[in-house]
Amino acid sequence: MRIYRMESYQEVSRRAANIIAAQITLKPDTVLGLATGSTPVGTYRQLIELNKQGDLDFSCVKTVNLDEYCGVPADHEQSYRYFMNHNLFNHINIDPANTNVPDGMAKDLQSECERYDKLISDFNGIDLQVLGIGHNGHIGFNEPDDCFEKTTHVVELKQSTIDANSRFFASVDNVPKRALTMGIQTIMAARKILLIASGADKRKILERALFGPITPQVPASVLQMHNDLTVVCCVD
Ligand code: GLP
Repeated sequence: MRIYRMESYQEVSRRAANIIAAQITLKPDTVLGLATGSTPVGTYRQLIELNKQGDLDFSCVKTVNLDEYCGVPADHEQSYRYFMNHNLFNHINIDPANTNVPDGMAKDLQSECERYDKLISDFNGIDLQVLGIGHNGHIGFNEPDDCFEKTTHVVELKQSTIDANSRFFASVDNVPKRALTMGIQTIMAARKILLIASGADKRKILERALFGPITPQVPASVLQMHNDLTVVCCVD
């Protein structure tokens, strides 16, 4: 595990973007696992800048997002598909057909989960997975549980996650109660993982995740077992 402790959110974003850019430069057809949430927004802004300057080419990159709310259409402002289009994809030279987000509107959610896992394995897995961390230690939408869920699955969101994400919705009642998320096994199978965290409110959970016992009650703690984990954070 490599930990970069940065001085500011801006520095976190620059370092994280540089790591992603290095990956894409070395392997232009990288399969990039992406995350939503407020944390990676600055990283995506930096990637857009690098792309605009002509220093980073996304034309051969494929992306797979971690998760999506159930029952929120792609063109809804709070869907993760909308988030990704607006915070990254619409501003870089990526082929939209190469961007993938689970379909939370699928009629048969179970089949959608199976389709998503097959898509990732047809891509020969993920080269670099970007992760944020929730206050309860969730990664993607893998919530604290009695066991680690392996593959893409439907998850009932914890009240704490619904409350945390309510800042993006008109009211807490508008936050979806269910989501689709890649499982822990899929995330752990990524060849490299980049975890980014920012804000003093993430300090405790980041410490528990990186240095506490490995337990499904803190899903991010499983990352301690990964052999190529980079953490970029500013949590002081
Ligand atoms: C959501 C996402 C996670 C993200 C987490 C933290 O629940 N599903 O992938 O890591 O929020 O979000 P933030 O970066 O806004 O704290």
